Amino acid sequence: NEIYLNGLNDVLPSLPADLTRLESLAGDKLSREAYDYVAGSAGTGDTARANREAFRRWRLVPQMLRGTTGCDLTTRVLGQTLATPVLLGPVGVLRQLHPEGELAVARAAEKLGVPMVLSTAASVAMEEVAEVAGPRWYQLYWPDDRELAVSFLDRAKASGYSALVVTLDTFTLAWRPHDLDNAYLPFLRGVGNQNYFSDPVFTRKAGDNPILHWTTLFGNPSLTWDDLAFLREHWDGPIALKGIQHTDDARRAVDAGMDGIVVSNHGGRQVDGAIASLDALAPITHAVGDQIDVLFDSGIRTGADVVKALALGAKAVLLGRPYAYGLALAGEAGVRHVLRCLLADLELTLRLSGQPDVTSPSLEILQNVT
Ligand code: FNR
Repeated sequence: NEIYLNGLNDVLPSLPADLTRLESLAGDKLSREAYDYVAGSAGTGDTARANREAFRRWRLVPQMLRGTTGCDLTTRVLGQTLATPVLLGPVGVLRQLHPEGELAVARAAEKLGVPMVLSTAASVAMEEVAEVAGPRWYQLYWPDDRELAVSFLDRAKASGYSALVVTLDTFTLAWRPHDLDNAYLPFLRGVGNQNYFSDPVFTRKAGDNPILHWTTLFGNPSLTWDDLAFLREHWDGPIALKGIQHTDDARRAVDAGMDGIVVSNHGGRQVDGAIASLDALAPITHAVGDQIDVLFDSGIRTGADVVKALALGAKAVLLGRPYAYGLALAGEAGVRHVLRCLLADLELTLRLSGQPDVTSPSLEILQNVT
């Protein structure tokens, strides 16, 4: 409504309402290295393309005359009530896109009550982000130093992060041809290590070359399912495992006493030639039922995408690249634009499909057209 009313005064929005158009606009604005780092994927981009194609194979079958005058977007995930089933997923190194980086993202999310998942690889320390953020979760890249891991968890807890998301699929960075061609990795230039550089355990051990020290402990390839007990000991809130694609792993997360999983392939940035994340979702929700909260990401661009993920059993979804492009294009206002568009689109699509709230979409409103 606001947009149409502004149009009466010849005021047009400065960013498009179709969020898929943001990528090329961001490409016009950003340095080649920064753009490629965000837009790029693993290998040939096969997994990233599959993520989008999978959404097109599921079609919504709207239901009529269901009195959907309004639509309740609130939901409960990991024992918490969230204002929307859309969260801002952890995207690191945002200061390479805009000088305010994660601070601008946190402010935009706070104004709309949208929860933010802050990355370990943030370019602003978690305490600074917490000062301006609303509802917030902390994403852990589990470093190869247990004392440092515990320090991250203690700091997150002390600064009000209410859930822990442990990313499993990135114990090392994948083969990413764009970044290799540009010989560009932001971390080696001191962007995206701010949670490390601001940590007392890290600084005590880093010596005079913190970036070199970072390279020795960012990755943690030897982790196994048994290590999760350590996290439980040191984090008393809910824990979700991010990067789950295999039904066996979803079951193991249940067995390990986790509270949630994020079905995700990291936006196609890790294993090329993998299944679409959406194709992993239905088998996983079927396998684990209500034993664990299932969240989803990788490829969400529209309200319809969110409805499809909810109908396939996700309780909430995480957004990745689109808000990073909003940030690149217009800072806090750009992120706000992305969120408002997505949430308005989601609400309209739910109502026009005859769904009164975010828990109602089910397989009954989907048809697979393959
Ligand atoms: C990410 N992602 C990510 N995930 C994570 O757990 N920790 C992180 O620090 C990052 N950093 C990051 C940087 C950039 C530039 C991108 C694009 C992505 C993955 C992110 O949380 C999410 O899984 C995907 O972005 C979802 O896919 P879409 O929405 O980008 O298609």
